[in-house]
Amino acid sequence: MRTIEWKDDGVYIIDQTKLPHELNFIVCKDYERIALAIEKMEIRGAPAIGVAAAMGIALAAKNSKGKSIEEIKKELIKAKRRLASTRPTAKNLFWALERMEKVWENANSSEEIIENVIKEALKIAQEDIDSCRKISEYGSSLIDDGDKILTYCNAGGLACVELGTALGIIKTAFRKGKKIEVYVPETRPLLQGARLTAFELKMEGIPYKLITDNMIGYIMQKGLVNKVIVGADRITRYGDVFNKIGTYLIAISAYIHKIPFYVAAPFSTIDANALPEDVIIEERNEKEVLYINNMLIAPSGTKVLNPAFDLTPGKYVSAIITDKGIIWPPYDFSTIK
Ligand code: MRU
Repeated sequence: MRTIEWKDDGVYIIDQTKLPHELNFIVCKDYERIALAIEKMEIRGAPAIGVAAAMGIALAAKNSKGKSIEEIKKELIKAKRRLASTRPTAKNLFWALERMEKVWENANSSEEIIENVIKEALKIAQEDIDSCRKISEYGSSLIDDGDKILTYCNAGGLACVELGTALGIIKTAFRKGKKIEVYVPETRPLLQGARLTAFELKMEGIPYKLITDNMIGYIMQKGLVNKVIVGADRITRYGDVFNKIGTYLIAISAYIHKIPFYVAAPFSTIDANALPEDVIIEERNEKEVLYINNMLIAPSGTKVLNPAFDLTPGKYVSAIITDKGIIWPPYDFSTIK
């Protein structure tokens, strides 16, 4: 099952807002629908939104009414701007859009633009599948029989095209016969852990326990977990990691308890020349915090802070598992080709 797929009549995406109760597909016929799907988090997860943005550009090219190469390029620039405005933190989104721009910039005719832009979007999707397989293979070597692993948010097949990064490692270790158990924090406010990670683990038959986010310190202190593996939205030059809000607390707790804290991500997530201060942390709608299942959980008029991501300094990261292998500290991505 693929999270996102290009078909003749549109881009099919799994509607993640309906999981785990309903498995529905949304058919996006134009780039605006893709942009909305990213904003509404019908599709989410750094690699998946990168692929979605690339396919959005491909739809823009396919649907273009431009009569000349210049007119088509103008439309694609507009589509790129709209797609880039959806979510600011994940590097993959911008990485994919920049790759698409290079392709249309180098095309010599209208036909070539359309053909090459669609080809490139499909290539980005296939590369994501391949990267997840490599990450999962490398990462599974770090998993031992009997491990109790904590993951966070959803870095699974639903956050990518298929398989996943952090969860891909867990699935691959399990498929190799390693006896493992996974702890899944629910991941407030949008519950990606409870809704999506638990869904994927259940489908795979991997033993797991759901916990609330405030139980993480407790399970570490009690020795109930011995490894942490999470994904990333952006990793800057010296291995500082931006990931779902709450990741930082997990990392420092793991550090204090001497539990390895691994981050899994493809190179498309790495912003090799950026420093943490260059990264914009997305602020989301206050309703995500104020409401659970459409029920207001605080007095009306309550003010809210809702950052979607936080920064885990590289010094708390035991290793970064990438599609090019496992990278150990000290991290300096500006030297890696
Ligand atoms: O807000 P989300 O659900 O898009 O956040 C997703 C995460 O933080 C994931 O951990 C990250 O994108 C890595 S996915 C392989």
